[in-house]
Amino acid sequence: MNRLRRTRLNSTLRSLVRETHVSVDDFIYPLFVRSGEGIKTEVTSMPGVFQMSLDEILKECSTLRALGLNSILLFGIPDVKDSVGSDALCDHGIIASAVRAIKAAYPSMFVVTDLCFCEYTDHGHCGILDHVHETVDNDLTLGISAQQALVHARAGVDMIAPSGMMDGIIATLRTALDEGGYPNLPIMAYSTKFASGYYGPFRDVAESSPSFGDRSSYQMDPCNRMEAIRESLEDEAQGADILMVKPALAYLDIIRDIRENSRLPLAVYNVSGEYAMLKYAGNAGLIDYNRVMMETMIGFKRAGADIIISYHAKEVAQLLRQ
Ligand code: PBG
Ligand code: ZN
Repeated sequence: MNRLRRTRLNSTLRSLVRETHVSVDDFIYPLFVRSGEGIKTEVTSMPGVFQMSLDEILKECSTLRALGLNSILLFGIPDVKDSVGSDALCDHGIIASAVRAIKAAYPSMFVVTDLCFCEYTDHGHCGILDHVHETVDNDLTLGISAQQALVHARAGVDMIAPSGMMDGIIATLRTALDEGGYPNLPIMAYSTKFASGYYGPFRDVAESSPSFGDRSSYQMDPCNRMEAIRESLEDEAQGADILMVKPALAYLDIIRDIRENSRLPLAVYNVSGEYAMLKYAGNAGLIDYNRVMMETMIGFKRAGADIIISYHAKEVAQLLRQ
């Protein structure tokens, strides 16, 4: 009989044999910016997550820096929405203005932008509608996505993260950035993104629920494992710098699959519904929140993720300091 417990009896020895580590450097923290001043509105479905005006976002960046968090993922909530998401295509739109202001105030903050149209369109879908087929027109959306990427690039973003699940998006954006004079701007692809019920609370924060139908004609079917790998490998072939699996908790097998099929860095998006479940269970006293949160983060790393995008990032950073 092997004595497996021998290495568990002493805490220093447990540290020596520990295989998986979580560090503050692994995290990207999502932020939601809207126009106005002095606005910091908590979202009921996500306690601790706020829609913030730019002045509040800047204060938040200083808090994040103090915690050692240097990467943010920025989402914009425009004042006006229309059929093509014009605010996202404007150099003075909400996201472009926010990127400029953040980079001016905190040049070393690593600013990533979510590149999609669902927050900017009046119908809430992730691109231009094809009315005949009641879905999103893939190639028309590619065209405006390239414009959106250049808006972000001109504003000084550090990395773009296209989340719309359009075919050919990575090749399109890579070409647009290269030809536009931004060959060094990396792309983190939302490469394997499932049509998920776990995005519910996010759509409250980002005000981005589709006004009709759902996203299953562009986001992936949760049942498909082979297709999940193909999606990420396709984005790698098109020039993605970082791959992603989203959501995280119900898809740990897919994280492992992609880790084993690609040598690119891999991110995981620990989404709004996953955050809300822990928060509400913690607030109700049902679980030891901090412990379950850290166990969850370890699970992502152990499954093969290098980068964790999470609303828990601040709490994790606080815990890691103690
Ligand atoms: C936009 C986008 C979504 C999320 C990130 N980018 C929502 C969606 O696809 O409906 C979800 C993030 C979360 O739930 O935390 N396409
Ligand atoms: Zn979208």
